[in-house]
Amino acid sequence: MRASTETSGPWAGTVAPPDLLATLNDGQEWADKVTEQWISIDDLGWAKTLPRLTENDRKVHPLPHGPITVPGEPSITHGLSAIFVHKKEDGRKPVKAAVIRTWGGPEQFSVETVPDPEPGPGEVIVELHASALNWHDVLVRQTGRGFTTPSILGLDGAGIRQDTGEKTVIFPGLNWGRNAAAPGRDFSILGDSTDGTYAQLVAVPVENLFPMPQHLSWAEAAALPCAGLTAYRALFKRAKLQPGETVLVIGAGSGVSTFAIMFAAAAEARVLATSSSQDKLDSVRAIGVDKGFLYTDPDWVQQVLEATGGGVDVIINGAGANLRDAMACLKPGGRIAVFGSSGGSTAAIDIPDLYWGHVSVLGTTLGSPDDFGQMLELIDRHQICPIIDSIYPLTEIVEAHRHLESRKHLGKLVLSLR
Ligand SMILES: NC(=O)c1ccc[n+]([C@@H]2O[C@H](COP(=O)([O-])OP(=O)(O)OC[C@H]3O[C@@H](n4cnc5c(N)ncnc54)[C@H](OP(=O)(O)O)[C@@H]3O)[C@@H](O)[C@H]2O)c1
Repeated sequence: MRASTETSGPWAGTVAPPDLLATLNDGQEWADKVTEQWISIDDLGWAKTLPRLTENDRKVHPLPHGPITVPGEPSITHGLSAIFVHKKEDGRKPVKAAVIRTWGGPEQFSVETVPDPEPGPGEVIVELHASALNWHDVLVRQTGRGFTTPSILGLDGAGIRQDTGEKTVIFPGLNWGRNAAAPGRDFSILGDSTDGTYAQLVAVPVENLFPMPQHLSWAEAAALPCAGLTAYRALFKRAKLQPGETVLVIGAGSGVSTFAIMFAAAAEARVLATSSSQDKLDSVRAIGVDKGFLYTDPDWVQQVLEATGGGVDVIINGAGANLRDAMACLKPGGRIAVFGSSGGSTAAIDIPDLYWGHVSVLGTTLGSPDDFGQMLELIDRHQICPIIDSIYPLTEIVEAHRHLESRKHLGKLVLSLR
């Protein structure tokens, strides 16, 4: 990865946002007025975020390059000893990103100024307006999974293409390959071994850029790619859900699950869901759930069988470890699409249940570029809006990850990047 602590390109005069110029000018304690929104660059060419200022940094000195003048504003004569607010000579703001240098807890993120991404052959720069969090990001953040640091995580994003000026939403898979049935061996995910979307700019292959659905906000569009695509492929390409069938979505709070619920309802299936929270089950009724079950109840499988008169046709399961219980909720010949392992990555099943029940257990990951296009068509046709739990500014990336890990959310957590 590619984030660097070195500033790239020339950095010109020190300019503060106009609304703070007056307060900066009068020599008062303006360090206290500086907010986390500001990215700072020091004389030596290294970047850091303002909340990490030391006492020494906060000493006020005459500006080393002389007063700053901005037409119509009083000139600034003093600044902090180490930190000055800069903008680039071309007038563009420095690029902010959440950078991770050591794998571990959410506190490992720091919001920094990073060099503009360099587009490779066939790549386009996207000025991101929003990104979204996925459980995948937590898993990578915790252990690195073999990827290098410093790293900018994030696979979801919506923004403006720098080449055409169009609004775009990013397909997050890289090198899917030619086989519609499964990705090839070179398949990878944006943000794993490339710089991802927890940043204001990202470089992505041009074929990964799709027109943003017009009815969605930036946050809603950014919430779509990973979770929406995973739900779409699991339901329609893997489990081949049909109108009139009954589908059980496991763990209603999951970002993927909220899409699965809405897509299945749009496809005229009967939708059931499980959750650890009655509040979440009550909430998802509004997006198409006919009946909910607390998987914390010891007899939840029996409840599903009774409510369906013998089981469901399809299960969409991101929990993984509950495979035996989930399979017990299926009708004979039922299909279960497994896309995650939130509840644990190993599961014991009784093999006779598999063959006597003619059960199809279907693994699935993300989806192909074609799946992504079809998912966007479905979103557009039914004017579906993603369920957003909350929107955090990039500067609150640590809090956003803590929230995701708390599992209190319903739907997607989004990062606002502008
Ligand atoms: N293969 C892929 O392409 C792909 C794509 C996206 C995600 N994933 C994986 O899918 C899983 C969900 O991802 P996400 O981003 O949607 O996560 P998320 O938003 O963090 O969802 C987590 C939710 O999963 C449910 N859950 C957790 N443990 C459970 C258990 N033992 N039994 C039933 N439900 C349980 C909980 O729902 P309640 O709060 O309702 O109880 C929890 O809130 C993760 O493992 C992720 O890595 C895979």
